[in-house]
Amino acid sequence: MSDFVCHGDILYASDADKMEVFEDSYIVVQGGRTEGIYEVLPEKYAHMPLKDYKRGLIIPAFSDLHIHASQFVQRGVGMDKLLFDWLNDYTFPQEARFASMDYAKPVYDAVVKELIRHGTFHASLFTTIHYDASDYLFHVLEEKGLYAYVGKVNMDMNSPDYLCETTEESLRQTERFLAEHQGTKTVKPILTPRFAPTCSEPLMKGLGELSKKYHCGLQTHLAESLAEVKWTLELFPDYGSDAEIYERNGMLDNGPSIFAHFIFPSQADIDIVRRAGSMMVHCPDATTSVTAGIMPVKALQDKNVPIAVGTDVGACQSTAVYRQVARAVQLSKLKEFFEPEDNGRITFTHAFYMATKAGGSCFGHMGSLEKGYHFNALVIDGLEDDGFTLTPQERAERFCYAGDDRNIVARFIDGREIQ
Ligand code: GUN
Ligand code: FE
Repeated sequence: MSDFVCHGDILYASDADKMEVFEDSYIVVQGGRTEGIYEVLPEKYAHMPLKDYKRGLIIPAFSDLHIHASQFVQRGVGMDKLLFDWLNDYTFPQEARFASMDYAKPVYDAVVKELIRHGTFHASLFTTIHYDASDYLFHVLEEKGLYAYVGKVNMDMNSPDYLCETTEESLRQTERFLAEHQGTKTVKPILTPRFAPTCSEPLMKGLGELSKKYHCGLQTHLAESLAEVKWTLELFPDYGSDAEIYERNGMLDNGPSIFAHFIFPSQADIDIVRRAGSMMVHCPDATTSVTAGIMPVKALQDKNVPIAVGTDVGACQSTAVYRQVARAVQLSKLKEFFEPEDNGRITFTHAFYMATKAGGSCFGHMGSLEKGYHFNALVIDGLEDDGFTLTPQERAERFCYAGDDRNIVARFIDGREIQ
């Protein structure tokens, strides 16, 4: 891995309310990590190769903390349904096809290509209940050097016969998945009970034991719809909240816990995830497409609940997580308009932070260009109209609202330029 210097405008969010901007500056990359940012390049770095991006904007790579790789081929389909009909009519029959590797391989190849195309280098992915296909996705991600968690999905009840495991088989295949993927470099296995309604208590208990034995984290859906919350508490009457199921079964102690949606959390849920240091994932387009609710981002942030951004795909239409940055701002304004007491409007800086550094924190020092962070970065350009200049922050905003992969002119993972 060679050391080098990039010149351009440089931007990253160091916190939800702090955008750091360095115009016409140099970023020094050593050993695959940021060494520092300088207005004038120090003499000791003058010998390093220089990549001059001129007015190109150097930003951190994106982090997508909730993506169903298995639903890529159904993105933007069935979006007029609500969650349970969407699952039963589209998602479950489609996911069942991952029993065939002839079906799975091209889909997962396409997903990994899409992540790279859109500059998402840190991702937490759901597959399906199928071992072989999940194993395949894991290896393709690892081969490309992306940072990822991959979870083989668990489902042992309230699921159609064609997409349901016995409790024993679910635990056996999950343990195999964890055991076979130890010692990997950039991709790690993660427990993935689909959501409480499709996972029995014995399964949850067994997953908790595996969490401890293999020291691994958890991803699932939490408090996504009112119907889901109600059904979960009927199915688990001995528990006071959705999050308590994962806490009491020992799944929050051994790695990151990543909870998608969290639209209708109870105070008990909030207390639990805060205690555990869990990461919540806001998926704005999925929220408007199949679940019909808006995550209380600002209120949760005010209570120190960490939040990242996800595309969800398929309950969304695109794997471009930067577009979800724009949507997060838009939805927060709608929420504030209809519920003024919520005071819920968020800034572009806040949303950009969630999709970069906040999400990246689940993988280590990623999602920022601060000293010591992995140089997982993008260079974006071509965002200004002729004769109309924009500041670096305005260009980042323009990219999230109106740009696409054609504006990404360079991509780096660990200081390695990739195509
Ligand atoms: N709840 C249970 N399964 C799913 C899924 O696949 N997508 C979403 N958005 N919610 C779920
Ligand atoms: Fe989801």
